Amino acid sequence: MLRKLLIGTMLGSALTAGYAASTYAAGGSVEVLHWWTSGGEAAALDVLKKKLESQGVTWKDMPVAGGGGEAAMTALRARVTAGDPPTAVQALGFDITDWAKQGVVGDLGEVADKEGWDKVVPTALQNFAKHDGKWIAAPVNVHSTNWVWISKKALDAAGGKTPENWDELIAVLDKMKANGITPLAHGGQAWQDATIFDAVVLSLGTDFYKSSMIDNDPAALGGEKMVEAFDRMAKLKSYVDKDFSGRDWNLASAMVIEGKAGMQMMGDWAKGEFLKAGQKPGSDFVCIRFPGTQGSVTFNSDMFMMFKVGDDKKAAQLTMASDIESPDFQSSFNVVKGSVPARTDVPDTAFDDCGKKGIKDLAEANSSGKLFGSMAHGYAVPAAVKNAMYDVITRHFNGELDSKAAAAALVEAVAAAKG
Ligand code: BGC
Repeated sequence: MLRKLLIGTMLGSALTAGYAASTYAAGGSVEVLHWWTSGGEAAALDVLKKKLESQGVTWKDMPVAGGGGEAAMTALRARVTAGDPPTAVQALGFDITDWAKQGVVGDLGEVADKEGWDKVVPTALQNFAKHDGKWIAAPVNVHSTNWVWISKKALDAAGGKTPENWDELIAVLDKMKANGITPLAHGGQAWQDATIFDAVVLSLGTDFYKSSMIDNDPAALGGEKMVEAFDRMAKLKSYVDKDFSGRDWNLASAMVIEGKAGMQMMGDWAKGEFLKAGQKPGSDFVCIRFPGTQGSVTFNSDMFMMFKVGDDKKAAQLTMASDIESPDFQSSFNVVKGSVPARTDVPDTAFDDCGKKGIKDLAEANSSGKLFGSMAHGYAVPAAVKNAMYDVITRHFNGELDSKAAAAALVEAVAAAKG
């Protein structure tokens, strides 16, 4: 009876997803390493957990907190070294490629071919989800880092107009300060500083973002524009509160949600926190692209990278991959997470206005050549170069380097990391 029920559920969801019933056996278990530990993230993860559980697959949770996934990658290294990798691991961009090069990842070809992933997953994601032509990871979503999340009440008190360029942004921040709140909610952690840096660099031009963050041209990394980018970072620092150091990103979101702060510059996972707190876009909070970056997107995509597992675990692993890529899951998960679907054929109907904007912005940026990998979240450069950049950005943010010295240090740090 139970078996019948399970098969019935599987069939049902596979049919809604628009492809033939999954042939992967129900049952088994998946051990999943991830860094989705905030309220909004956990709510989104629950959508996946529940879907698998409804198919009789047991979920073994391995959470390792820390945005950007640095701590998760360290935990993963220990597991792989011990010869006991988890079934699936949340991972980003170049980290996935690095693991693939080590020959420890699995092969999702069977499910990807059957379900036609090649045709629906954007090429920018396939570049990382595939290695040597083989599918090794299932893309869950597309996030992007050039967003600002503003308290509607604080914005209204500051004149009500969303800023469209740097000067307007500074004017709004000044008004928020004069109104007695913390203008900018921020957590002083290297990856959070770097997340703002993505947007600040992009605001100085798409060519500049590409030449510095993607191509790592020393002239761009150490030039006048980079000095200006660091000056902008220093200016933004002047709007954070005195307790910013070490604060988790979701606590910074909470400051905006509670009206203690005016805005947060953060990827769209922040929206998950606003939604979890019962807030609505448009009436409680406002989402805008970082002023000066409308039309361009710095993306990151969470993918579940699959490891080589024994035959006893393979069916559950493929079931998980198939679930993740199904259009109905892509909609129901991303609506909660704050991200947008990792396939091009998912309708935006279930998404709120910020989600609809995210989907539209992504498509537009993609077709106009203005879609770039996020440096802060692993899609512009490999981990060694990213970490070298993090270090300089954070030292500057904390006042250890002035803007000129930071630009010069960036050139040197990147060169050293590249070897
Ligand atoms: C991930 C998001 C996550 C955020 C904060 C990013 O690197 O892509 O899914 O919500 O970190 O934890």
